[in-house]
Amino acid sequence: MNLMITGGAGFIGANLVLHWLQHHPDDLVINFDALTYAGNLENLAEVKNHPKYRFVLGDLRNPADISKTFSKYHVDAVIHLAAESHVDRSIYGPADFIETNISGTFNLLETARDYWKTDLSAHRFLHVSTDEVYGSLGSCGKFLETTPYAPNSPYSASKAASDHLVRAWHHTYKMNMLTTNCSNNYGPFQFPEKLLPLLINNCLQNLYIPVYGDGKNIRDWLFVKDHCEALDCVFHSGKSGETYNIGGGNEWSNIDIVRYVCKELDQRLGRSKENSCEKLITFVQDRPGHDLRYAIDASKIKTELNWTPRHTFGEGLSKTIEWYLGHQNWIKDITSGTYREYYELQYGGQNSDAV
Ligand code: NAD
Ligand code: DAU
Repeated sequence: MNLMITGGAGFIGANLVLHWLQHHPDDLVINFDALTYAGNLENLAEVKNHPKYRFVLGDLRNPADISKTFSKYHVDAVIHLAAESHVDRSIYGPADFIETNISGTFNLLETARDYWKTDLSAHRFLHVSTDEVYGSLGSCGKFLETTPYAPNSPYSASKAASDHLVRAWHHTYKMNMLTTNCSNNYGPFQFPEKLLPLLINNCLQNLYIPVYGDGKNIRDWLFVKDHCEALDCVFHSGKSGETYNIGGGNEWSNIDIVRYVCKELDQRLGRSKENSCEKLITFVQDRPGHDLRYAIDASKIKTELNWTPRHTFGEGLSKTIEWYLGHQNWIKDITSGTYREYYELQYGGQNSDAV
């Protein structure tokens, strides 16, 4: 099979490319990525010469890039991850989110429909989405696949729109489509604009740790390698036209997870109580429209497809921290240049050394 993975140079995409090459050695993996600020080919340095791996520098906003890739590589199937993915950036500049997440998905669907038209049912298209499309929960309940959509940020609204396109292309054109909605991922290669890598990096740099609002917002954290296994499972065993929620069953308030990671870092960095990473915690202005709580009910994928996460939070977090500590040059490279401009815009005035 010739499998096109969009967004393969990003966080989850790179983990998925590595997973696929390891577990499906007969498949050709075509990584289609525009290399935005979030895309980094360093993530895939170890497979750049792998005989079953190809990289295409292509933009979903440009239909010609997509159709050339389908023709050149005879694409049999797609796993679609490419997106603008950061909520805070969507608040500053929603246009890219509309163009990539909505129009880009539309362009991809139309190319696939045209290229596969002789037998649409023979070609799978897995659309990777987020639990944020369901909106915000109160203190109880969890998101089910049947929970009504209620996106609250430009990011989640653009992902919700793309989910609806996928649903309609299945319903109307009978394309062989699957959608997954996953909770917060953490692990290697995550860009340090997201909470966990930002927190680890800031501790290493002795920069303050910005916690939005009162820190009581809750997220359901899943190790990225477990997400990749779930995507593999849905791709191979999911039922066409269905959506599957993926989550870790692992809810943490932001302030609790920040404190927990600080403790883990203190141990590994040999920091004393007086010098603890916790001292860097600073409560800052809340994110506008900040969703209070996300929690996934993953019983459908568990009972129908027999998937459960293999890593406990402790195991996943240890691997993640070790990875960041062992890849400080990776962080240094991407936190120079434009990252600094973003950081200044988002946290401006408070980004000087905290201690
Ligand atoms: P990311 O921001 O790390 O990576 C996105 C990748 O897409 C980058 O490599 C980027 O270069 C590429 N890209 C962006 N615009 C493009 C375009 N126009 N054309 C081609 N490539 C383009 O994102 P991520 O965190 O790895 O998320 C991947 C997918 O998973 C997204 O669709 C996101 O909505 C979804 N998701 C993420 C999480 C999470 O916690 N990170 C959870 C659930 C779902
Ligand atoms: O739920 C899945 C979603 O998880 C994905 O669809 C998104 O692509 C991904 O970015 C993530 O969205 P969040 O907004 O939940 O992730 P983020 O890491 O930005 O923030 C996690 C929580 O931490 C959130 O409640 C906001 C808070 N936060 C974040 C940052 C960056 C802070 O308190 N301080 C920060 O500096």
